[in-house]
Amino acid sequence: MSRFWSPLVHSLTPYVAGEQPTMSGLVKLNTNESPYGTSPRALTAISEATDDRLRLYPDPTARRLREVIAVRHDLDPDQVFAGNGSDEVLAHIFHALLNHEEPLLFPDITYSFYSTYCRLYGINFRRIPLDENMQVRIEDYLQPCGAIILPNPNAPTGIARPLSDIETLIRQHPDQVVAIDEAYVDFGAESAIPLVKETS
Ligand SMILES: Cc1ncc(COP(=O)(O)O)c(C=O)c1O
Repeated sequence: MSRFWSPLVHSLTPYVAGEQPTMSGLVKLNTNESPYGTSPRALTAISEATDDRLRLYPDPTARRLREVIAVRHDLDPDQVFAGNGSDEVLAHIFHALLNHEEPLLFPDITYSFYSTYCRLYGINFRRIPLDENMQVRIEDYLQPCGAIILPNPNAPTGIARPLSDIETLIRQHPDQVVAIDEAYVDFGAESAIPLVKETS
């Protein structure tokens, strides 16, 4: 089968997922699993949606979902993008917004998918070392670049930068895309959503 793969796919190194234990009763916090059980409201919403409408094609713009998320975060629905998990949204971001002549900057220790997406989409990138305390040093990102992507908190260190640092980064790069990946923001970091509101 591999003889049908493109040269690009041949050159990729497959992503190796973290350990996936299968013992029952284990909650994997590293994959955002909830230790509190499924929300009864989520279960009700899912069962209410599981009827004859399943045979229909869904709304391709996910309008209703984007409206609800917008209300929750005090945004405009047009400022919300819906995808199948963060990885798909990241794929669109890398492909559409982060591919420039100058390198894309991200930490040397970070979500390992970033470099995989760069290779997949042919994006020039530069890894910026964390400091001796495993922290992202914002000053190191105040340099010419094509774009920046930063998880906040960073993964897998779990260490977050304050919103003021993110604001500095954005103000210093008015002509570049600065993507803040908040996959783990609910575990304890300030969301950059207020900055979206401020600049819109
Ligand atoms: C920083 C970061 N962003 C995104 C993801 C992907 O999340 P999802 O499972 O929602 O695709 C991960 C998964 O480990 C991650 O660490």
